[in-house]
Amino acid sequence: MGKIKKIGVLTSGGDAPGMNAAIRSVVRTCSYYNVECIGVYQGYQGLIEGQFEKLNARSVSNIISRGGTILKSARSLEFKTIEGRKKAFDNFKEEGLDGLIVVGGDGSFTGAMLFQKEHGVPVIGIPGTIDNDIFGSDLTLGYDTAMNTVVDAIDKIRDTASSHNRLFFIEVMGRDAGFIALNTGIAGGAEEILIPEENLGLDRLVESLKVSSRSGKSSSIVVVAEGEKSGKNVFELAEYVEDNFEEYEVKVSVLGHMQRGGSPTVVDRVLASRLGVAAVEGLLDGQSNVMVGVINNKVKRTPLERAIKEHNEIDSELLRVADIMSV
Ligand code: F6P
Repeated sequence: MGKIKKIGVLTSGGDAPGMNAAIRSVVRTCSYYNVECIGVYQGYQGLIEGQFEKLNARSVSNIISRGGTILKSARSLEFKTIEGRKKAFDNFKEEGLDGLIVVGGDGSFTGAMLFQKEHGVPVIGIPGTIDNDIFGSDLTLGYDTAMNTVVDAIDKIRDTASSHNRLFFIEVMGRDAGFIALNTGIAGGAEEILIPEENLGLDRLVESLKVSSRSGKSSSIVVVAEGEKSGKNVFELAEYVEDNFEEYEVKVSVLGHMQRGGSPTVVDRVLASRLGVAAVEGLLDGQSNVMVGVINNKVKRTPLERAIKEHNEIDSELLRVADIMSV
């Protein structure tokens, strides 16, 4: 592969606050190194359809504070096929691109890896997902912002829950990972936290809520990750608890996609700025097939394959803290 003179950047999969800050960082780093930068719209679908736009340092003015992604995002089914990736490569070549930066989660990185393998295209990933479920980075873009959004919501629900002596089940995002639920549960003072990585069991849940109630609590909050493994959805869980425990009136609040929006926090803006620089410099350095992330507050590169296959473990210390805090 020759010198990198033109880099494409796209955002893919579920959007996350901080993606705009990452685009800004990639574009400005390219500008700093006199490399051309092309924004690809609609994730991989835009690569297949040739939706390109030349971006310069001024095209990304004032987007650092905005949620969502100016390049739009998509989960492209066509890119999952060999033919789709071939079309994407034809456009990539025609546009004269030398490398690609993909901001997204594990599904997006799987696509990047296949694209690299089949067409020898240099690719670098930036972890962007509110779920924080990517190996090779202590934090993913959007996670900190989403947690702050969730805690703000829990605090508000707590006000009304305690005024009415109610038990609330609050469902938060996290299809396969409980990082948002566990941390916001601790920060929001939840009585119980249900995550995909640990199955508390329904009987223990009811028992623990009874203990809380007997200890004089005027409200209870259970934070539930959407992917938790009791086999019941949050409404069924609430019904089960209501049937087995009549002291409290039970309500459900599903926070949903509001968790994916909003202005990114300082943590996400700084993370995005650092990772955008690292991604462009990585390509210029001849790196490929890696993700840039932060580990112990240092920027590190991890092979995409490991980023996809391996998983960050839930910190058992946090589970213990959550348990102690709910006495
Ligand atoms: O992958 C991030 C995530 O926020 C998950 O926690 C959630 O299950 C999913 O996206 C929902 O995404 P969508 O509504 O885009 O399908």
